[in-house]
Amino acid sequence: MPREIRKVGVIGLGTMGAGIAQLAIEAGVETVGREVSMELAERARDRIAHFLTRKVEKGTLDRADRDAAVQRLTLTTDVADCADCDLVIEAIVEELGPKQELFRELDRITAADAVLATNTSALSVTQIAAPTTRPERVLGMHFFNPAPLLPLVEVIRTELTADDPYETAYAFGARLGKTPIRCNDTPGFVVNRVLIPLLNDCVRVLDEARVTPQDLDTGMKNGAGWPMGPCELIDLVGIDIHVHASEALYEATHEPRMAAPPRLVRMAQAGLLGRKSKRGFYTYD
Ligand SMILES: NC(=O)c1ccc[n+]([C@@H]2O[C@H](COP(=O)([O-])OP(=O)(O)OC[C@H]3O[C@@H](n4cnc5c(N)ncnc54)[C@H](O)[C@@H]3O)[C@@H](O)[C@H]2O)c1
Repeated sequence: MPREIRKVGVIGLGTMGAGIAQLAIEAGVETVGREVSMELAERARDRIAHFLTRKVEKGTLDRADRDAAVQRLTLTTDVADCADCDLVIEAIVEELGPKQELFRELDRITAADAVLATNTSALSVTQIAAPTTRPERVLGMHFFNPAPLLPLVEVIRTELTADDPYETAYAFGARLGKTPIRCNDTPGFVVNRVLIPLLNDCVRVLDEARVTPQDLDTGMKNGAGWPMGPCELIDLVGIDIHVHASEALYEATHEPRMAAPPRLVRMAQAGLLGRKSKRGFYTYD
């Protein structure tokens, strides 16, 4: 039987954590958000409140529901405030050391039957779970950016994850309005395992075929039915993020297609990061 989630903890309220916290409070779940400083936590709550206000303005959310949702979010800098959470979702920096340290701490403070989830994109869930005394209750919940908008969540099990916490996380993903899929803990899970080498191939084709980014995007949209061209997509994801994910997958698999094409590495080094820096394959106002 999946466990009922009455209270959820979200650790790290950056791009992903704030989106996940927004989903949880909109779904009516009491949520504790933990950041490294109250200033960062409050900034995240302001962003969430702003998005919810925009939904009220667009007529997709009642003002009373918006206010109630914002009330459901408690901010803290102390992990101990997650002690009574039924589920904790970690969305801190993509580095194994800090994640393992956090899971060791969560293992110590949360109830023995609480479920611990990581939103890692490219690290091993198994390794993140290793320092805990309950790897059977640790799993991955991999949301996609922007979490409030993209429907998918990959629910990832390790060799040790037990059925009950796994089904609890799957059901919780659905309760957040997401479309969950089941998969095992392998490098890149499902979508990034396919998408990262594919996008890297697209970038290599830019040089091989001497096609422009515009024409490559036009080609993939009109010839393969892609909703967005590969260069547009890499600009949206962030060139630095894509390079980082490619490097992590290459390290894990040693497959040459996973390695970031030199052209992308140079762009990242030059600060051409895509939409967020207003310049990538395209220029943005
Ligand atoms: N950005 C994406 O497209 C994306 C998509 C899916 C998954 N992810 C994964 O989600 C995680 C977070 O990524 P992000 O893009 O939101 O990063 P981010 O840098 O926007 O946010 C991370 C936040 O965590 C905070 N933080 C760091 N250590 C902390 C700690 N010990 N306790 C509490 N807060 C802490 C930081 O202050 C920061 O605000 C990473 O594992 C990343 O791989 C990212």
